[in-house]
Amino acid sequence: MTSAKQRAAEAALAYLKPDTVLGVGTGSTVNFFIDALAAHRDRIPGAVSSSNASTERLKALGIPVLDLNDVGRISIYVDGADEADPGLHLIKGGGAALTREKIVAACADTFVCIADASKQVKALGRFPLPVEVIPMARRFVAAALRALGGDPRWREGVVTDNGNDILDVHGLAITDPVGLETQINQITGVVTVGLFAARRADVLLIGGEDEVLTLTA
Ligand code: 5RP
Repeated sequence: MTSAKQRAAEAALAYLKPDTVLGVGTGSTVNFFIDALAAHRDRIPGAVSSSNASTERLKALGIPVLDLNDVGRISIYVDGADEADPGLHLIKGGGAALTREKIVAACADTFVCIADASKQVKALGRFPLPVEVIPMARRFVAAALRALGGDPRWREGVVTDNGNDILDVHGLAITDPVGLETQINQITGVVTVGLFAARRADVLLIGGEDEVLTLTA
């Protein structure tokens, strides 16, 4: 049976631009997209991946994985989200891949976000906000996040693909996603915050029971 995540993922195939490199995110929804992409691999030169996990899956299905530095711009970036607000600002990083995801999103002409309806929220912040930090700065960054009103908790045992730690920040009221993204990114020791607001999604595909809702920014 097709799930809502799979339905959203398969709908993203309509945004593929033949003969161009695309970007691929990380997570269970994206895994459905990668599986569906395999049938279209002859239409694209390859993909830039946002994580070691997605790289392995792409390669296993015969889709070439390219270095972003060799590619420059990419046509579309397809990725999931932990939360999406009506303005298509996102919280991401539940899978700890937020930094590479943000880099690939920044290089994409179009960011297509795929999710099921459980990810839609009126205002961001119910999902704890992931922040990737340089390990030696964890305590310092946690104190700064507390000063912003959040309750940061170390995701113990998780090391990102970049060798860093993750703090999950609970209890933040995110009324100004772009402002908070800027503020947290400026804390010394922060690599990236999982707020995708300055570079939000352009298209949000929400998988439902038997249809896909398309929202655009
Ligand atoms: C990984 C992410 C994922 O896109 C996010 O966690 C959603 O995952 P899933 O598709 O498994 O619900 O940001 O860092």
